[in-house]
Amino acid sequence: MVTQTKIISLEEYIPELDEIIRQHKGLKGSLIQVLHKAQQGFGYLPIELQKYVAEGLKVPYSEVYSVVTFYSFFSMEPKGRHIIKVCLGTACFVRGSAKIVTYLEEKFGIPLSKTTEDRRFTLDSARCLGACSLAPVMMVNEDVYGRLTPEKAYKILMETYE
Ligand code: FES
Repeated sequence: MVTQTKIISLEEYIPELDEIIRQHKGLKGSLIQVLHKAQQGFGYLPIELQKYVAEGLKVPYSEVYSVVTFYSFFSMEPKGRHIIKVCLGTACFVRGSAKIVTYLEEKFGIPLSKTTEDRRFTLDSARCLGACSLAPVMMVNEDVYGRLTPEKAYKILMETYE
């Protein structure tokens, strides 16, 4: 879940983060709530932001860090506006989905599980997206595309996702 549309620095984000901390401080479950909102607002949770939250909520930094690393929906790395998941499950793999991954890696200049510099795309993989009859399949955010070739996948991404 990433809602940040504009890239801003942590410094610019601090006033909003202060407000989130103020609203939740002292409440039950405040740490998770604050981290959730911070991720929605800032896009991810870098170490400096985690330290700021720890200080603001008066909890040990180690506690913040262990929550962030425990839950898979928290990310310490920036994510793109659009999350691409190319299926590498068996049905898709035998129909060439690995070639789609390689092609997109080359086109975007990033390895799998990384994000383009402009934060337009995060390139990821999945193990069966439940649409094996359409193999090879990719999912972009909530949209599923099937019967892809590397070129077709790239074209969809460039023409549909700003
Ligand atoms: S293996 Fe790709 S959708 Fe099932």
